[in-house]
Amino acid sequence: MDSVTLTDNRNGKQYTFGILHPTMGQDVIDIRPLFKQTGMFTYDPGFTSTASCSSEITYIDGGKGELRYRGYAIEDLAQNKSYLEVCYLLLNGELPTKDELIAYDMELRKRSFVHEGLKNLFYAFPDKAHPMAMMSSAVSALSAFYSEHIKMQSEEDLQVMRRRLLAKVPTLAAFAYRRSLGIPFIYPDLKRSFTENFLYMMHAYPGQDLKIPEVQVRALDTIFTLHADHEQNASTTTVRAVASTGAHPYAAISAGIDALWGRAHGGANESVIAQLEYIGSVGRVDEFIARTKDPDDEFRLMGFGHRVYKNFDPRAKILKKLLDELKDELGIDNELLEIAEKIEAVALSDDYFISRKLYPNIDFYSGLILTALKIPKEMFTIIFVIGRTVGWLAQWIEFNADPEKKIARPRQRYIGPEPREL
Ligand code: SDX
Repeated sequence: MDSVTLTDNRNGKQYTFGILHPTMGQDVIDIRPLFKQTGMFTYDPGFTSTASCSSEITYIDGGKGELRYRGYAIEDLAQNKSYLEVCYLLLNGELPTKDELIAYDMELRKRSFVHEGLKNLFYAFPDKAHPMAMMSSAVSALSAFYSEHIKMQSEEDLQVMRRRLLAKVPTLAAFAYRRSLGIPFIYPDLKRSFTENFLYMMHAYPGQDLKIPEVQVRALDTIFTLHADHEQNASTTTVRAVASTGAHPYAAISAGIDALWGRAHGGANESVIAQLEYIGSVGRVDEFIARTKDPDDEFRLMGFGHRVYKNFDPRAKILKKLLDELKDELGIDNELLEIAEKIEAVALSDDYFISRKLYPNIDFYSGLILTALKIPKEMFTIIFVIGRTVGWLAQWIEFNADPEKKIARPRQRYIGPEPREL
């Protein structure tokens, strides 16, 4: 067994820990016995050097800029498979056969309707409510409508739980959008595919048989695939932590939505467009690059940098290529695109970014495509939620099937007051 040995230089004591090997990527030091052996904790705010679990779902090589779902390269999946095929792959470990896909697609279409009582929830929100606040509440509310999922007895129960949520999230997302405008909800249309249905529920008038251009469906389907999973990011870690207490699965996913909302995470896509609009012209880019480098200025370039990728985020590369391919057909806002391209060019030749290995991440370009699909920036993180729900579900299921699972309960380094009397 490979191992490492630590020496405590205060008393010369030595402690040996096993090294566990992965299929691909970094070896891990098995420090589970550390506290028992040494009486000490490790210290790792933000978990920059910590593997929280073993997982078979997604693999990232941050140095190479590589991303794989169940072993398949993201470039191949984005190019050749539909989002629904990717969902099936992430949840079942294998791509579906043609017949399996047809059955899966039809079941999700039928499950895309939500209980009529849920509509009242949306009317409880003020007019200016952010769609993410409505989405997190609506998914949590689903646990009240499907309380039986708190204790699933069989594989079939598990299948129903995950297909229900996967199917209903786009409907709830579209309801949140329509509520924010005060316009009538549009119900799902059984004749439309997963992604086309979402655009239809977003944009159709009541009773209108709205035609959605295939190019728009393809672009959004690719965006959903790119967002589907990303190993142990902040929102997935949140989902696993809530799963570890035995809470309702939909409560765990709702917590994941709340974690994703932050601008350091999924909320960055909304901030990127707001930032491009605020910069306003190619001529002002240098001013903002200078601000982002100024340690006394809290301005940061949204859509740049990543905890794992120290190279191009492969998803950003795919989105950039999609933008170039579809910008005429989709009617991309060229002015914002020019500002984004100028930021990328200046940043990638500037030592501040090069030395810190800061590259565009998935959020840098996604908003430009979503804007062209007439999706307002307040809905961008909702799009991320729709794409990522399958990843959260796959990780939730993997956590609950893990023989090593324990309640998530880290310790701390206490630096507060010494004991004192009143
Ligand atoms: C997502 O984890 C995932 O996988 C997430 C995600 C997923 O699919 O689930 O990939 C989705 O969340 C993508 C990231 C979206 N967020 C943003 O675009 C927000 C802007 N980016 C930063 O806030 C930051 O880069 C993070 C949060 C993404 C990563 O932060 P880290 O890993 O903790 O890095 P850090 O803050 O320690 O930064 C290292 C250095 C620092 O400089 P020094 O203090 O060492 O001098 O890089 C600098 C930072 O100041 N830096 C930036 C920067 N990001 C990092 N400087 C300017 N602009 C930036 N965007």
